[in-house]
Amino acid sequence: EIYHNYFFDEPAFNTHDGGYVPLEVADAPEKPLAIPALLKPDKETDTDIWYTVTAQAGETQILPGQKTKTWGYNATILGQTIVYPVGKHIHVALENHLSELTTFHWHGLIVSGPYVDGGCHAPVYPGETKHIDFTLDQPAATTWLHAHPCPSTAEQVWHGLATLVLVKDDHINSLPLPHNYGVDDIPLVLQDRRFHENNQLDYHADYDPDGVQGPTAMINGTVNPVFDVTTQKIRLRILDGANRREWRLHFSDDLKFAQVGGDSSLLPEPVYLDHLMLTCAERAEIVVDFAGYHDGQTVTLFTDDTPIVKFRIHQFAPDNTALPDHLLTIDKPKVDPKTPIRKIVMSGMDESVMMDNKKFSMQRIDATQPVGQAQYWDITNANSPESGMVHPFHVHGTEFLVISRNGQAPYPNEHGFKDTVGVNPGETVRILVRFDLPGVYMYHCHIIEHEDGGMMAQIQTYYPDKPMPKYKLMDMDTL
Ligand code: C2O
Ligand code: CU
Ligand code: CU
Repeated sequence: EIYHNYFFDEPAFNTHDGGYVPLEVADAPEKPLAIPALLKPDKETDTDIWYTVTAQAGETQILPGQKTKTWGYNATILGQTIVYPVGKHIHVALENHLSELTTFHWHGLIVSGPYVDGGCHAPVYPGETKHIDFTLDQPAATTWLHAHPCPSTAEQVWHGLATLVLVKDDHINSLPLPHNYGVDDIPLVLQDRRFHENNQLDYHADYDPDGVQGPTAMINGTVNPVFDVTTQKIRLRILDGANRREWRLHFSDDLKFAQVGGDSSLLPEPVYLDHLMLTCAERAEIVVDFAGYHDGQTVTLFTDDTPIVKFRIHQFAPDNTALPDHLLTIDKPKVDPKTPIRKIVMSGMDESVMMDNKKFSMQRIDATQPVGQAQYWDITNANSPESGMVHPFHVHGTEFLVISRNGQAPYPNEHGFKDTVGVNPGETVRILVRFDLPGVYMYHCHIIEHEDGGMMAQIQTYYPDKPMPKYKLMDMDTL
């Protein structure tokens, strides 16, 4: 079976927003798609691995003419790609070379909150280096690192502070999937920007409380990118890294592809599609087979009607490896029927966005949940189905399963573990959430301006048989 639709509610697409900024193809030459370098560990042993991640400012040649002032991790924009092997003890030095406070949030990693998680309670001040360490026990996935200082997450991400973090384990390494990074295993960070005078970004000029957008698609920091295909099959690790934009992806000729992974894990089995919509912070790993194409042809990836990446086909060796029918066994945590269902409501648009009728407060713990206990969370988007928007709901420090949408089956490509789920206006999405580590974790809409605007709350998880620890929570008002 091949699915041909985007699943989400069409009236809620961002194209219907008053403030929608349509994409335009930039008046700039085509450029090879930037493939971020893999970050080299400082040191590695059989049991441990050490990295240094530096947030830094720089200049990037994005458009012809003047370079753009940008920020990145170990790079001038976005960042080097970090690879974390499951099971090893990971040590990371977090260096802030910027002139303002930032945080290093591991979106999609199951690490303790609030400090290692790197949400707003984990500041690294200019010139400072902090050290964190953790061991991952989660399935292989495409996750990411981004800045998360409240309330300037959106602005820092707009400057470039976002990079991919690939979690790898023995299981994924053993599967017949394209694994050759930069050759047939390709990251695609989808973003949009507006370039002002002298090719500079101007976040404040572009500010929109419903999410900042720009007319120029920027993929891995490249405008008008071309990728040279030298293998029959490629795996794309796609991240919606935009502040607000949804991407409705499809290839020329409606070329079908197999989605093999979602946010936090592989899917149980490949799902065949020719259209795919991603909301902010969602990831999809897809495998594209160019069997029907030959040297000299081009396949284009579009969002709506705008071309965003060109794939230039070169000669390749035939590759008949079939995708496995089964990719991952999902162990669904059991919910005790006596456990109450947690109800969460995202409401409002623009400045009036709220989570459970409240604006975020850094010093207020909004909810608690015992470590190890599986709970259903019913996430409601209270916007009106006629004029509301999709709010992508994200939880830190866990991976959840999507159980239902308004009581119906979830979309066919959301059966893996996820950390972000798009909730249509008027819809209630039931998710199954379990935390494995104690701490304080944020949950919020991942339209980043909504998060900064207060559509966010925090939960404290605790060992039921131990006293509740008290965490030091940041208070931006006293800074
Ligand atoms: Cu992508 Cu609160 O995070
Ligand atoms: Cu996160
Ligand atoms: Cu939102």
